[in-house]
Amino acid sequence: MNMSNLFEKINENFNQTATIACFNFLPFTRMFRKNIFANVNDCNRVIQKLVGERENNFDNEFITNIVDAYLDEMTGNRQQSTYFSKENLDALVQDLFVAGTETISNTLNWAIFYIVAHPTIQKNIHEEIDHVIGKDRPPCNSDRSRMAYIEAVLLESMRCHCAGPILLPRATTQDITFHGHFIPKDTFILVNMWSAMKDEQYWPEPEKFDPERFLDENRQLRNVNHPAMMPFSVGKRACTGEQIAKIQLFLVLVSLFQKFEFRFANGWIPNDLRGQPGITLRPPKCQYEAFVR
Ligand code: HEM
Repeated sequence: MNMSNLFEKINENFNQTATIACFNFLPFTRMFRKNIFANVNDCNRVIQKLVGERENNFDNEFITNIVDAYLDEMTGNRQQSTYFSKENLDALVQDLFVAGTETISNTLNWAIFYIVAHPTIQKNIHEEIDHVIGKDRPPCNSDRSRMAYIEAVLLESMRCHCAGPILLPRATTQDITFHGHFIPKDTFILVNMWSAMKDEQYWPEPEKFDPERFLDENRQLRNVNHPAMMPFSVGKRACTGEQIAKIQLFLVLVSLFQKFEFRFANGWIPNDLRGQPGITLRPPKCQYEAFVR
């Protein structure tokens, strides 16, 4: 299986998240969705192979990535630790792969869709790129601090369509009363992060795509740490990949818009910007034309 098949399988399972959720409550439903487990096993095999190759070429003088660093811990003086094992290393890489692929591609899909649907926003993006980076030099992470408009576009894309609208499941470890509601110990809890980022109290006209919400009168970023802006969640279980995700989103988006102007193919115009209802919310099916700038 090549990388593209791997991503397809991860993608297919992400699309079936709602189905997977019912496995917890109706375990017999697992047998109707055997392909989900087959996909997980296929992905695991590929990842084990990749990790194995890295392990075979491991050189503790050249630690360049998380697998090397983990192997170094595993084989070094600390090998007594129960946490550092080959099994946990495979699981770690699987977690990062699965959590970091569909989330990024979905966020980029939405960002591109919104930008193309708003030609003025695309024009502002082109202007900012031309002004700060120019047409030739590839973008780098340090450009982010000087490109508030693009950062605001990414923030607004995630506010409008966050990749993790319902957080990973939690359970109460003791009886608690929250906002007057009694919740007994061991209750299964699903947090709806979507509702905070669509709350009219904090975000006027919440359905409207408006990057200006994240810019102040000096065109500097604002509301980045707004309590109702949590696309990566908060607390101990918040997204491990938040920092790398922000860098990837920025670099990919800027690289694309630096070189191209995008339009919907064949003059197509979206009826509305809410996306296709389904198990995961995706932008409407559309094709783009890319014009070299
Ligand atoms: C736009 C991109 C991304 C978004 C919006 C996003 C969002 C999230 C959210 C909402 C959670 C759930 C946190 C919770 O339940 O409290 C999560 C968990 C996680 N994310 Fe991300 N994520 C993104 C990209 C990434 C990337 C690139 C990686 C890794 C390279 C990653 C690794 C993880 C991991 C490992 C977890 C599980 C953390 C845990 O359970 O302790 N994510 N992410």
